[in-house]
Amino acid sequence: MKMADQEQDHHVEAPASMEHIDRTELYTSLPVRIQFLHSFLEFGPEDVAALIAGQKYVKALIPAIVNIVYKKLLKYDITARVFTTRNSRDEGPVSSWASEDSAQIMHRKMFLRWYLTKLNSDCTRMEYWEYLDKVGLMHVGKGRKNPLHVEYIFLGACLGFIQDAMFEAILSHPRLELYRKIALIKALGKVIWIQNDLMERWHNTDALEFLEEEPIDDEEALKEGYLHGKQVLGDDDASVRSNGTNASKRSSESGKTILGRPIEEATHLMDGMNMGRCPFSGMARPDPAHLERQRAVPSRPAAVNMSGNGLSEYHIPGTPRLKLVNGRTVLKQNLDPNPFSDAAASDEKKI
Ligand code: HEM
Repeated sequence: MKMADQEQDHHVEAPASMEHIDRTELYTSLPVRIQFLHSFLEFGPEDVAALIAGQKYVKALIPAIVNIVYKKLLKYDITARVFTTRNSRDEGPVSSWASEDSAQIMHRKMFLRWYLTKLNSDCTRMEYWEYLDKVGLMHVGKGRKNPLHVEYIFLGACLGFIQDAMFEAILSHPRLELYRKIALIKALGKVIWIQNDLMERWHNTDALEFLEEEPIDDEEALKEGYLHGKQVLGDDDASVRSNGTNASKRSSESGKTILGRPIEEATHLMDGMNMGRCPFSGMARPDPAHLERQRAVPSRPAAVNMSGNGLSEYHIPGTPRLKLVNGRTVLKQNLDPNPFSDAAASDEKKI
Protein backbone atom coordinates (compact mmCIF):
# COMPACT_ATOMS: atom_id res chain seq x y z
CA MET A 1 0.00 0.00 0.00
CA LYS A 2 1.27 3.48 -0.87
CA MET A 3 2.10 5.90 1.94
CA ALA A 4 -0.73 8.30 0.94
CA ASP A 5 -3.32 5.46 1.00
CA GLN A 6 -2.07 4.34 4.40
CA GLU A 7 -2.49 7.86 5.70
CA GLN A 8 -6.04 7.97 4.33
CA ASP A 9 -6.91 4.66 6.01
CA HIS A 10 -5.63 5.94 9.30
CA HIS A 11 -8.75 7.88 10.20
CA VAL A 12 -9.21 9.13 13.72
CA GLU A 13 -12.48 10.72 14.84
CA ALA A 14 -12.22 14.20 16.32
CA PRO A 15 -12.40 14.13 20.12
CA ALA A 16 -15.96 14.39 21.44
CA SER A 17 -15.04 17.66 23.14
CA MET A 18 -14.46 19.32 19.74
CA GLU A 19 -17.32 21.08 18.06
CA HIS A 20 -17.83 20.06 14.44
CA ILE A 21 -18.04 22.90 11.94
CA ASP A 22 -19.10 21.89 8.44
CA ARG A 23 -17.09 23.84 5.87
CA THR A 24 -19.79 23.65 3.19
CA GLU A 25 -22.42 24.99 5.57
CA LEU A 26 -20.04 27.66 6.77
CA TYR A 27 -19.73 29.00 3.24
CA THR A 28 -23.30 28.50 2.07
CA SER A 29 -25.42 29.47 5.06
CA LEU A 30 -25.15 32.96 6.46
CA PRO A 31 -26.70 31.93 9.83
CA VAL A 32 -24.11 29.15 10.18
CA ARG A 33 -21.30 31.60 9.37
CA ILE A 34 -22.67 34.13 11.87
CA GLN A 35 -23.09 31.46 14.52
CA PHE A 36 -19.48 30.32 14.05
CA LEU A 37 -18.20 33.88 14.32
CA HIS A 38 -20.32 34.46 17.43
CA SER A 39 -19.05 31.28 18.99
CA PHE A 40 -15.38 31.93 18.10
CA LEU A 41 -15.50 35.54 19.26
CA GLU A 42 -17.58 34.58 22.30
CA PHE A 43 -20.25 37.05 21.31
CA GLY A 44 -23.05 36.31 23.72
CA PRO A 45 -25.83 37.68 25.92
CA GLU A 46 -23.43 39.86 27.89
CA ASP A 47 -22.35 41.56 24.65
CA VAL A 48 -25.99 42.05 23.66
CA ALA A 49 -26.68 43.56 27.08
CA ALA A 50 -23.65 45.86 26.78
CA LEU A 51 -24.77 46.99 23.31
CA ILE A 52 -28.30 47.69 24.52
CA ALA A 53 -27.03 49.57 27.56
CA GLY A 54 -24.60 51.50 25.33
CA GLN A 55 -27.06 52.39 22.54
CA LYS A 56 -27.63 55.92 23.72
CA TYR A 57 -23.87 56.64 23.91
CA VAL A 58 -23.22 55.25 20.43
CA LYS A 59 -26.24 57.09 18.99
CA ALA A 60 -24.80 60.39 20.20
CA LEU A 61 -21.55 59.69 18.33
CA ILE A 62 -23.09 58.90 14.95
CA PRO A 63 -23.30 62.41 13.37
CA ALA A 64 -19.69 63.22 14.27
CA ILE A 65 -18.44 59.86 12.99
CA VAL A 66 -20.27 60.34 9.69
CA ASN A 67 -18.59 63.71 9.22
CA ILE A 68 -15.07 62.51 9.94
CA VAL A 69 -15.50 59.40 7.76
CA TYR A 70 -16.43 61.58 4.76
CA LYS A 71 -13.60 64.02 5.53
CA LYS A 72 -11.29 61.01 5.49
CA LEU A 73 -12.70 59.49 2.27
CA LEU A 74 -12.42 62.85 0.50
CA LYS A 75 -8.87 63.42 1.73
CA TYR A 76 -7.32 60.93 -0.72
CA ASP A 77 -7.82 61.02 -4.46
CA ILE A 78 -7.98 57.23 -4.63
CA THR A 79 -11.04 57.08 -2.34
CA ALA A 80 -12.61 60.41 -3.35
CA ARG A 81 -12.66 59.44 -7.03
CA VAL A 82 -14.90 56.43 -6.26
CA PHE A 83 -17.79 58.85 -5.65
CA THR A 84 -17.53 59.76 -9.33
CA THR A 85 -16.20 56.60 -10.98
CA ARG A 86 -17.96 54.05 -8.70
CA ASN A 87 -14.89 51.84 -9.10
CA SER A 88 -11.68 52.08 -7.09
CA ARG A 89 -9.82 50.18 -9.85
CA ASP A 90 -10.56 52.93 -12.34
CA GLU A 91 -7.41 55.06 -12.74
CA GLY A 92 -8.60 57.22 -15.64
CA PRO A 93 -9.39 60.95 -15.64
CA VAL A 94 -12.18 62.04 -13.31
CA SER A 95 -14.99 64.26 -14.63
CA SER A 96 -15.67 65.94 -11.28
CA TRP A 97 -14.52 65.69 -7.68
CA ALA A 98 -17.06 65.36 -4.88
CA SER A 99 -16.80 67.85 -2.05
CA GLU A 100 -17.90 67.48 1.54
CA ASP A 101 -21.00 69.62 1.22
CA SER A 102 -22.06 68.63 -2.29
CA ALA A 103 -25.58 67.24 -2.61
CA GLN A 104 -24.17 63.82 -3.49
CA ILE A 105 -22.03 63.60 -0.34
CA MET A 106 -24.87 64.92 1.83
CA HIS A 107 -26.96 62.07 0.43
CA ARG A 108 -24.19 59.54 1.13
CA LYS A 109 -23.81 60.93 4.65
CA MET A 110 -27.48 60.27 5.26
CA PHE A 111 -26.98 56.62 4.28
CA LEU A 112 -23.92 56.24 6.47
CA ARG A 113 -25.93 57.73 9.35
CA TRP A 114 -28.69 55.21 8.77
CA TYR A 115 -26.16 52.41 8.47
CA LEU A 116 -24.58 53.31 11.82
CA THR A 117 -28.07 53.55 13.34
CA LYS A 118 -28.73 50.05 12.08
CA LEU A 119 -25.38 48.87 13.46
CA ASN A 120 -26.51 50.29 16.81
CA SER A 121 -29.86 48.44 16.74
CA ASP A 122 -31.21 45.02 17.77
CA CYS A 123 -28.47 42.52 16.88
CA THR A 124 -30.43 39.51 18.15
CA ARG A 125 -32.25 39.28 14.83
CA MET A 126 -30.84 37.58 11.74
CA GLU A 127 -32.02 40.53 9.66
CA TYR A 128 -29.39 42.65 11.38
CA TRP A 129 -26.50 40.44 10.21
CA GLU A 130 -28.08 40.03 6.78
CA TYR A 131 -28.02 43.76 6.34
CA LEU A 132 -24.32 43.92 7.28
CA ASP A 133 -23.71 41.21 4.68
CA LYS A 134 -25.67 43.14 2.09
CA VAL A 135 -23.46 46.16 2.72
CA GLY A 136 -20.44 43.95 1.99
CA LEU A 137 -22.02 42.60 -1.18
CA MET A 138 -23.04 46.00 -2.56
CA HIS A 139 -19.40 47.17 -2.58
CA VAL A 140 -18.25 44.37 -4.92
CA GLY A 141 -20.29 45.30 -7.98
CA LYS A 142 -23.34 43.23 -7.02
CA GLY A 143 -26.96 44.04 -6.29
CA ARG A 144 -26.92 47.47 -7.89
CA LYS A 145 -28.27 48.58 -11.28
CA ASN A 146 -25.25 50.83 -11.42
CA PRO A 147 -22.53 48.63 -9.89
CA LEU A 148 -20.15 49.93 -7.22
CA HIS A 149 -16.66 48.44 -6.77
CA VAL A 150 -14.67 49.37 -3.70
CA GLU A 151 -11.54 47.30 -3.14
CA TYR A 152 -11.15 45.73 0.27
CA ILE A 153 -8.21 47.87 1.46
CA PHE A 154 -10.49 50.92 1.60
CA LEU A 155 -13.35 49.10 3.31
CA GLY A 156 -11.09 47.60 5.97
CA ALA A 157 -9.36 50.94 6.56
CA CYS A 158 -12.71 52.69 6.80
CA LEU A 159 -14.05 50.18 9.33
CA GLY A 160 -10.84 50.50 11.34
CA PHE A 161 -11.24 54.26 11.32
CA ILE A 162 -14.87 54.02 12.50
CA GLN A 163 -13.82 51.60 15.25
CA ASP A 164 -10.99 53.87 16.38
CA ALA A 165 -13.25 56.93 16.54
CA MET A 166 -15.97 55.04 18.45
CA PHE A 167 -13.57 53.46 20.95
CA GLU A 168 -11.77 56.72 21.63
CA ALA A 169 -15.04 58.54 22.30
CA ILE A 170 -16.41 55.78 24.52
CA LEU A 171 -13.18 55.42 26.49
CA SER A 172 -13.00 59.19 26.98
CA HIS A 173 -16.55 59.42 28.30
CA PRO A 174 -16.34 61.37 31.54
CA ARG A 175 -19.02 59.52 33.50
CA LEU A 176 -19.40 56.01 32.12
CA GLU A 177 -17.89 53.51 34.53
CA LEU A 178 -14.81 51.67 33.34
CA TYR A 179 -16.36 48.18 33.45
CA ARG A 180 -19.22 49.42 31.27
CA LYS A 181 -16.79 51.01 28.81
CA ILE A 182 -14.90 47.73 28.63
CA ALA A 183 -18.07 45.71 28.05
CA LEU A 184 -19.25 48.14 25.36
CA ILE A 185 -16.02 48.34 23.38
CA LYS A 186 -15.58 44.57 23.59
CA ALA A 187 -19.08 44.04 22.17
CA LEU A 188 -18.74 46.74 19.51
CA GLY A 189 -15.34 45.40 18.53
CA LYS A 190 -16.86 41.96 17.92
CA VAL A 191 -19.71 43.40 15.84
CA ILE A 192 -17.24 45.44 13.77
CA TRP A 193 -15.03 42.40 13.20
CA ILE A 194 -18.06 40.44 12.03
CA GLN A 195 -18.93 43.32 9.68
CA ASN A 196 -15.33 43.16 8.51
CA ASP A 197 -15.73 39.45 7.73
CA LEU A 198 -19.00 40.17 5.90
CA MET A 199 -17.15 42.69 3.75
CA GLU A 200 -13.97 40.72 3.25
CA ARG A 201 -15.77 37.49 2.34
CA TRP A 202 -16.97 39.07 -0.90
CA HIS A 203 -13.38 39.89 -1.86
CA ASN A 204 -11.54 36.67 -1.07
CA THR A 205 -11.73 33.47 -3.06
CA ASP A 206 -12.07 30.99 -0.18
CA ALA A 207 -15.63 30.03 -1.09
CA LEU A 208 -15.27 30.13 -4.86
CA GLU A 209 -16.43 26.53 -5.25
CA PHE A 210 -19.74 27.33 -3.49
CA LEU A 211 -20.46 30.64 -5.16
CA GLU A 212 -23.20 29.43 -7.50
CA GLU A 213 -25.12 27.90 -4.64
CA GLU A 214 -25.87 31.26 -3.07
CA PRO A 215 -28.18 33.16 -5.40
CA ILE A 216 -28.12 36.93 -5.19
CA ASP A 217 -31.31 38.86 -4.49
CA ASP A 218 -32.99 40.61 -7.38
CA GLU A 219 -32.37 44.30 -8.07
CA GLU A 220 -35.60 45.41 -6.50
CA ALA A 221 -34.62 43.83 -3.20
CA LEU A 222 -31.24 45.57 -3.24
CA LYS A 223 -32.47 49.13 -3.60
CA GLU A 224 -30.68 51.56 -1.32
CA GLY A 225 -31.79 51.01 2.25
CA TYR A 226 -33.80 47.88 1.38
CA LEU A 227 -33.37 44.24 2.31
CA HIS A 228 -35.55 41.66 0.55
CA GLY A 229 -37.74 44.46 -0.77
CA LYS A 230 -38.42 45.77 2.74
CA GLN A 231 -37.11 49.11 3.93
CA VAL A 232 -34.55 48.54 6.67
CA LEU A 233 -33.02 52.02 6.65
CA GLY A 234 -34.95 55.23 6.43
CA ASP A 235 -35.74 56.84 9.71
CA ASP A 236 -33.75 56.52 12.84
CA ASP A 237 -36.08 53.97 14.36
CA ALA A 238 -37.15 52.01 11.31
CA SER A 239 -34.12 49.79 11.45
CA VAL A 240 -34.79 48.99 15.08
CA ARG A 241 -38.54 48.63 14.67
CA SER A 242 -39.00 46.50 11.57
CA ASN A 243 -40.72 43.19 12.25
CA GLY A 244 -38.45 41.19 9.98
CA THR A 245 -41.06 38.91 8.42
CA ASN A 246 -38.93 38.43 5.32
CA ALA A 247 -35.61 38.16 7.06
CA SER A 248 -33.15 35.35 6.44
CA LYS A 249 -34.56 34.76 2.97
CA ARG A 250 -31.37 34.28 1.01
CA SER A 251 -29.60 31.89 3.28
CA SER A 252 -32.41 30.30 5.18
CA GLU A 253 -35.63 30.63 3.23
CA SER A 254 -36.12 26.89 3.33
CA GLY A 255 -35.17 26.87 6.99
CA LYS A 256 -32.52 24.27 6.13
CA THR A 257 -28.80 24.36 5.44
CA ILE A 258 -27.34 22.87 2.29
CA LEU A 259 -26.96 19.56 4.17
CA GLY A 260 -30.69 19.58 4.95
CA ARG A 261 -30.19 20.39 8.63
CA PRO A 262 -32.67 22.86 10.12
CA ILE A 263 -30.91 26.21 10.53
CA GLU A 264 -31.69 26.28 14.25
CA GLU A 265 -30.13 22.88 14.76
CA ALA A 266 -27.07 23.70 12.67
CA THR A 267 -26.43 26.91 14.50
CA HIS A 268 -27.58 26.07 18.05
CA LEU A 269 -28.90 29.58 17.92
CA MET A 270 -31.27 29.00 20.79
CA ASP A 271 -28.60 27.86 23.23
CA GLY A 272 -26.15 30.48 22.00
CA MET A 273 -28.11 33.56 22.94
CA ASN A 274 -30.20 32.12 25.75
CA MET A 275 -33.21 34.09 24.54
CA GLY A 276 -35.98 31.51 24.89
CA ARG A 277 -36.88 31.56 21.19
CA CYS A 278 -34.43 31.44 18.36
CA PRO A 279 -33.28 35.06 18.20
CA PHE A 280 -31.99 34.77 14.65
CA SER A 281 -35.04 33.19 13.10
CA GLY A 282 -36.02 36.64 11.89
CA MET A 283 -39.58 35.58 12.61
CA ALA A 284 -39.96 36.61 16.20
CA ARG A 285 -38.56 39.15 18.54
CA PRO A 286 -37.00 37.74 21.67
CA ASP A 287 -39.17 37.68 24.75
CA PRO A 288 -39.62 41.40 25.61
CA ALA A 289 -39.39 40.64 29.32
CA HIS A 290 -35.99 39.11 28.68
CA LEU A 291 -34.83 42.13 26.71
CA GLU A 292 -36.15 44.36 29.48
CA ARG A 293 -34.06 42.43 32.00
CA GLN A 294 -31.03 42.93 29.75
CA ARG A 295 -31.75 46.62 29.51
CA ALA A 296 -31.46 46.95 33.25
CA VAL A 297 -28.15 48.57 34.14
CA PRO A 298 -25.73 45.71 34.57
CA SER A 299 -24.45 45.55 38.10
CA ARG A 300 -20.74 45.79 38.77
CA PRO A 301 -18.91 42.48 38.25
CA ALA A 302 -20.19 40.37 41.09
CA ALA A 303 -18.33 37.91 43.27
CA VAL A 304 -18.06 34.61 41.43
CA ASN A 305 -18.48 31.21 42.89
CA MET A 306 -15.39 29.49 41.53
CA SER A 307 -16.14 26.04 42.90
CA GLY A 308 -15.88 23.64 40.01
CA ASN A 309 -16.65 26.31 37.42
CA GLY A 310 -15.16 26.14 33.95
CA LEU A 311 -13.77 29.21 32.20
CA SER A 312 -16.98 29.79 30.29
CA GLU A 313 -18.95 30.15 33.51
CA TYR A 314 -16.48 32.72 34.76
CA HIS A 315 -17.82 35.18 32.29
CA ILE A 316 -18.34 38.62 33.72
CA PRO A 317 -18.85 41.51 31.34
CA GLY A 318 -15.83 43.74 31.54
CA THR A 319 -13.59 41.18 33.25
CA PRO A 320 -10.31 40.96 31.39
CA ARG A 321 -9.03 37.55 30.32
CA LEU A 322 -5.54 38.58 31.35
CA LYS A 323 -4.36 41.15 33.82
CA LEU A 324 -0.96 42.24 35.04
CA VAL A 325 -0.77 41.90 38.82
CA ASN A 326 2.51 42.61 40.57
CA GLY A 327 4.36 42.32 37.28
CA ARG A 328 2.88 38.88 36.52
CA THR A 329 0.21 38.02 33.98
CA VAL A 330 -2.78 36.53 35.73
CA LEU A 331 -5.42 34.62 33.80
CA LYS A 332 -9.08 35.49 34.17
CA GLN A 333 -9.90 32.38 36.21
CA ASN A 334 -7.22 33.24 38.79
CA LEU A 335 -8.17 36.87 39.17
CA ASP A 336 -9.93 38.32 42.16
CA PRO A 337 -13.68 38.24 41.56
CA ASN A 338 -13.60 41.97 40.99
CA PRO A 339 -10.43 43.06 39.21
CA PHE A 340 -11.50 46.70 39.59
CA SER A 341 -11.62 46.52 43.36
CA ASP A 342 -9.46 48.79 45.49
CA ALA A 343 -7.32 45.82 46.43
CA ALA A 344 -6.59 45.06 42.78
CA ALA A 345 -5.86 48.72 42.09
CA SER A 346 -3.39 48.94 44.97
CA ASP A 347 -1.72 45.76 43.70
CA GLU A 348 -1.24 47.51 40.40
CA LYS A 349 0.37 50.54 42.03
CA LYS A 350 2.99 48.27 43.55
CA ILE A 351 4.13 47.06 40.08
C1 HEM B 1 -16.82 50.87 6.68
C2 HEM B 1 -16.91 50.86 5.42
C3 HEM B 1 -18.15 51.23 4.67
C4 HEM B 1 -19.46 51.13 5.01
C5 HEM B 1 -20.03 50.57 6.31
C6 HEM B 1 -20.26 51.60 3.91
C7 HEM B 1 -21.63 51.64 3.89
C8 HEM B 1 -22.38 51.98 2.78
C9 HEM B 1 -23.81 51.93 2.71
C10 HEM B 1 -24.71 51.51 3.87
C11 HEM B 1 -24.19 52.30 1.46
C12 HEM B 1 -25.57 52.40 0.80
C13 HEM B 1 -26.76 52.25 1.61
C14 HEM B 1 -27.82 51.29 1.08
O1 HEM B 1 -27.94 51.12 -0.15
O2 HEM B 1 -28.53 50.72 1.87
C15 HEM B 1 -22.98 52.62 0.72
C16 HEM B 1 -22.95 53.04 -0.56
C17 HEM B 1 -21.82 53.56 -1.14
N1 HEM B 1 -20.55 53.47 -0.67
FE1 HEM B 1 -19.97 52.66 1.07
N2 HEM B 1 -19.42 52.02 2.92
C18 HEM B 1 -18.14 51.81 3.34
C19 HEM B 1 -17.00 52.11 2.67
C20 HEM B 1 -16.97 52.80 1.49
C21 HEM B 1 -15.77 53.30 0.88
C22 HEM B 1 -14.34 53.11 1.45
C23 HEM B 1 -16.14 53.91 -0.27
C24 HEM B 1 -15.32 54.62 -1.31
C25 HEM B 1 -14.03 54.65 -1.32
C26 HEM B 1 -17.60 53.80 -0.38
C27 HEM B 1 -18.36 54.29 -1.40
C28 HEM B 1 -19.72 54.13 -1.53
C29 HEM B 1 -20.50 54.65 -2.64
C30 HEM B 1 -19.97 55.44 -3.83
C31 HEM B 1 -21.82 54.29 -2.40
C32 HEM B 1 -23.04 54.62 -3.28
C33 HEM B 1 -23.61 53.43 -3.96
C34 HEM B 1 -24.79 53.78 -4.83
O3 HEM B 1 -25.02 54.98 -5.09
O4 HEM B 1 -25.44 52.87 -5.28
N3 HEM B 1 -18.05 53.10 0.70
N4 HEM B 1 -21.91 52.40 1.56
